Amino acid sequence: MVHRHTWAVSDFVVRPSGPLSGSVSIGGAKNSALKLMAACTLAEGRYVLRDVPQISDVHHMCGVLESLGMSTERREDGALVIERGPSVISDPPYELVERFRASTALMGPLVAATGRVRIALPGGDNFGTRPIDMHLRGLEALGAITEVGERDVQIVARRLIGARIELDYPSVGATENVLMAAVLAEGRTTICNAAREPEIADLAAFLNRMGAQVLGAGSSTIIVDGVDRLRAVEHTVIPDRIEAATVLAALGVAGGEITLRNVRHDHLGMLMEKLGHMGIRTSPEGDGLWAMATGRRSATNVATLPYPGLATDYLPLLVAVLTLADGTSFATENVFAGRFRYVSELAHMGADIGVDGHHMVIKGVKRLTGTAVEAVDIRAGAALVIAALGADGETVISGGDHLDRGYEGFVDKLRDIGVDVSRSLA
Ligand code: EPZ
Repeated sequence: MVHRHTWAVSDFVVRPSGPLSGSVSIGGAKNSALKLMAACTLAEGRYVLRDVPQISDVHHMCGVLESLGMSTERREDGALVIERGPSVISDPPYELVERFRASTALMGPLVAATGRVRIALPGGDNFGTRPIDMHLRGLEALGAITEVGERDVQIVARRLIGARIELDYPSVGATENVLMAAVLAEGRTTICNAAREPEIADLAAFLNRMGAQVLGAGSSTIIVDGVDRLRAVEHTVIPDRIEAATVLAALGVAGGEITLRNVRHDHLGMLMEKLGHMGIRTSPEGDGLWAMATGRRSATNVATLPYPGLATDYLPLLVAVLTLADGTSFATENVFAGRFRYVSELAHMGADIGVDGHHMVIKGVKRLTGTAVEAVDIRAGAALVIAALGADGETVISGGDHLDRGYEGFVDKLRDIGVDVSRSLA
């Protein structure tokens, strides 16, 4: 059993803040932790995962693993202990899976571990349809037969056989599913045009610790030599680079001088470059990062790309900063074409943003105005909190449950560095 949190629907109330000061500790990466949890279905035994954030997506993933016959428990030191017996069920219940998209990461490991899986198809997101065609083609290349129904997909493979797989695009989710299936396939799998995100390298490190033979994760060619069996292990999740970006963007609006602890600056290269263009100074310090911002930010141009390019998850955060910058900025979203719904909410606060297709023209204003706005997804919600720091009056952000999906102790962490933020029951 996990500690059961209640994820109450509540608003975020934010008032203008700054300058920020003090230090904040960054938690483990949501988008790594969820995939490592899915990989625990691959082998029998007791896993100990450290730095798994206490967020609602993790809570939902615990529920799914329990529905497969596994057990999950938070130890007193915060580590997540997951136990998997000699067998695992491969039909996760529809109602549990359709709640969150990361459950698609179960397809690869479950088909590898049990020979079959039936799982709900992921719904669309607030930023558009999110197909899984590349995941399925990758698994088919390993010999699986896939059958897509109206609500779910069934994948069957008596045995998986290594193959050379060229992904059309370096999809994070497709790379992870193929990787988790290939570790137990017969022979060698080569994944070409693989995603290079740090979360992929973390997953490969975890799988290698389990006894897998994965080479090249973090580069665009991953080579996997299948093994007969894997074992349960202990692992510490990498720090969340998007949480770090969120705190740095807050500093960009509120100004001040802060230290972030538990940060991998080697994962933040392009972000630090862009923050530098805006006039935010950063410098690695031990396992963390020192950052300072004074005066007004400068306008700059930003475009999202797969890693090592600028992450799509950073864009709403950076756009929030640029709405208050000195000058005009151009921003382009290349990864999720429909990820723009936060723009109208920022405009509601007085931001001057023109949208043309997947491009934005942001004319910086001196101040925004606090008002009632809605968080339509997790990073959109974070962007509104950031913008509210530079708005006159109070900003009330509804849809706070989106932030609970991905940010652990968000309010407490921000309050610790001087942000005036609280929650009120909606
Ligand atoms: C992961 O989503 C993250 N989610 C996203 O974070 C992140 O924005 C994204 O990677 C990009 O970095 C998780 O890790 C749970 P993709 P994923 O497959 O794996 C298209 C968050 O809230 N595509 O790299 O779904 C797809 O539509 C989330 O933290 C296909 O067309 O991203 C998109 O346009 C938001 N067919 C592009 O590829 C496929 O089969 C990139 O998607 C797969 C993807």
